Amino acid sequence: MFGKTTHIIQKNTLTKDDLTYLISLKGDERDYFLKKIGENYVQTLGKKVFFRGLVEFSNYCTKDCLYCGIRKSNQSSDRYDIDDDEILKAAKFAYTNNYGSIVLQSGERNDPIFIKRITNLLKKIKDITDGKLGITISLGEQTEETYQAWFEAGAHRYLLRIETSNEELYYKIHPKDTNHNFQNRINCLKSLQKVGYQTGTGVMIGLPFQTYEELADDLLFFQDIDIDMIGMGPFIEHTETPLYQHKDKLWSLQRRFDVTINMIASLRLLMPDINIAAATALQAIDPMGREKALKYGANVIMPNITPTIHRKDYTLYENKPCTDEGAEDCSNCLNIRVEMADREVGYSEWGDSKHFFSRTSENNKAF
Ligand code: 5AD
Ligand code: FES
Repeated sequence: MFGKTTHIIQKNTLTKDDLTYLISLKGDERDYFLKKIGENYVQTLGKKVFFRGLVEFSNYCTKDCLYCGIRKSNQSSDRYDIDDDEILKAAKFAYTNNYGSIVLQSGERNDPIFIKRITNLLKKIKDITDGKLGITISLGEQTEETYQAWFEAGAHRYLLRIETSNEELYYKIHPKDTNHNFQNRINCLKSLQKVGYQTGTGVMIGLPFQTYEELADDLLFFQDIDIDMIGMGPFIEHTETPLYQHKDKLWSLQRRFDVTINMIASLRLLMPDINIAAATALQAIDPMGREKALKYGANVIMPNITPTIHRKDYTLYENKPCTDEGAEDCSNCLNIRVEMADREVGYSEWGDSKHFFSRTSENNKAF
């Protein structure tokens, strides 16, 4: 039964055709594939799942990505910028609740005031948490100098999704201007690796015009650039964005969800030692979405610890979950959810990407 899937799982080198086959699986063969990957990955990586407390501290953005609800041109987005004191409180919360790490994320800004502010904030977070709270940042495209300054201030992981590794598709979902340049995004990933960050990227799944073959290429791109961490989730159309006009061309939400889980499981097969996050967008489609991702390959989850009053305004996509719960509710709920997925939380651990250490000990062969 399911000879082809069994054969692919046992191969040493996966081709684009193999990955395309796995990503597009449906029905019983898909169930079989997911079950196998779930079992294999627990044997090699163990059951531990790591928390990253997510603080979405501002939705001001200088960019205009055609899919994103907080794009600059969306006049109906209520803009906010959380005070440093409140961000520090959230960091302290993560620390005292043994989360191990936080992620600071916001819309993209490159002005000197913002850059300096982040540098100071990173230092303060390190100070108030005895240097023990791991800090990931996700603040878009910056110069190598800025990446370096933030690294020296205490951030050690950086997330910058490529969104799609296909240049043509990239320009269908971004304005074609100097502010949204595909090559620059790739160069940013290279700079991050050069500076010494554990580097994360990712893509959206089920974009208008996107094919299974392109998604297979995305996975090979991750392998090619020797990435340490991945966060990828389903595309969810937002009414106040230009891409909404293509809503009739989209796969059903369920299909986007299923293919995302297939992508996670296929990536786990391709890159067994990287960190893979269970994207929050999965939960916007299926209430148990993130738990399913944990079962089939993901090992990182990002509880939202943004102060509740602002959560509803960080609407990259609609139907975003957990926008009205406090941080306490979120972590209690998540602990139970992780256990339900037959995984356990690695409390107080940074949960660094194992791949990063093997990559850097091989004398940095990245790119
Ligand atoms: N649907 C799904 N994900 C989205 N993102 C932005 N807009 C959407 C959307 N409409 C994702 C992008 C970005 C991350 C912070 O959120 O991949 O990198
Ligand atoms: Fe803000 Fe894309 S719209 S970075």
